[in-house]
Amino acid sequence: MSDTKQQLEKLLADSVLALATADETGLRELEVRLLGRKGEVNRVLGAMGALDVAGRAELGAAVNAAKNELERAIARRRQELSFELSSALAENDWIDTTEPGTVAAAGHLHPSNAAINEMSALFERIGFRRARYREAEFDHYAFEALNMPKDHPARDDWETFFIDAPEDKKMGKQVLTPHTSNAQNREMERRRPPIKMVAFGKCYRRQSDVTHLVMFHQFEGLVVDKGISLAHLRGALDHFAKNYFGTERVTRLRPHHFKFTEPSFEVDISCGLCNGTGKVGGVSCRVCKSGWLELGGAGMVHPNVLKAGGVDPKIYSGFAFGWGLERTMMMRAGMNIPDIRLIYNNDKRFLDQF
Ligand code: PHE
Repeated sequence: MSDTKQQLEKLLADSVLALATADETGLRELEVRLLGRKGEVNRVLGAMGALDVAGRAELGAAVNAAKNELERAIARRRQELSFELSSALAENDWIDTTEPGTVAAAGHLHPSNAAINEMSALFERIGFRRARYREAEFDHYAFEALNMPKDHPARDDWETFFIDAPEDKKMGKQVLTPHTSNAQNREMERRRPPIKMVAFGKCYRRQSDVTHLVMFHQFEGLVVDKGISLAHLRGALDHFAKNYFGTERVTRLRPHHFKFTEPSFEVDISCGLCNGTGKVGGVSCRVCKSGWLELGGAGMVHPNVLKAGGVDPKIYSGFAFGWGLERTMMMRAGMNIPDIRLIYNNDKRFLDQF
């Protein structure tokens, strides 16, 4: 018995140093060699057969104690090694948290979409509801219901794309919306007065040069209620002009003609560069030449248009306006860009300026 006990003590004594200095792999090997099924500790148990009951119990207890001690030593070393590893990592792979990071390039809305959101919010603030109607539209909504019967010469002002699609018996041919005024009757069919709508949409015309685009945007305002007058139109226009362009800007209505409004106007806004005087430093203003910039059309909704929308013109009246979005947006930027087509060329150097 004392033989085996001595054997165990020697084993422990020999292992302590080895365990305390082993590396990962060494530790794993030692663990197997000492505590494995055929390991050194178990080998001591081989002497068991030659012992009496009391001797066996004693040996069993001694072996268990040795096992526990070895297991603790192995666990201790294992923990030490993992600390060493993480502090080595901390030393070699440290990051300087005070160093400025690289900022990922973030995208932004296209200037036209940003303008739509901003303008829409301005109108919504005075009770307008934002709407959007189709861009492939029937002749009825694009022209007929706007008091422009078939073959009326006024239609020539809208250089319209016709779609190669089946004609509808009642609604007529299909077109790409040449303006957003189709929204007027679409809205009146959708809801009863009071109506306060602003619709943004794409427009298509057979035109492309430095001031015209084949595809551009308009926004259409429509207000229909009892007792709506020109004063309401002016109020809405001024609200927009002052909030979008600046409090010093003013609007003016210049008589014009549209088939779907009566009376009709072109809306001008005072030029931001020359303050409405037409002159900068004694010479003609390079942006406006006259002191005024044209925003777009407006007027009181023609009774025939109200009727087409199922609204009784004897009870209700209304105003409407329709402006080009790109033109309005450029006007605020104070830009007299050489070519309006730049907006849709998708050159980041251009777009990032907005
Ligand atoms: N639809 C007209 C255009 O495209 C603008 C307009 C809208 C005029 C509403 C009056 C009322 O030129």
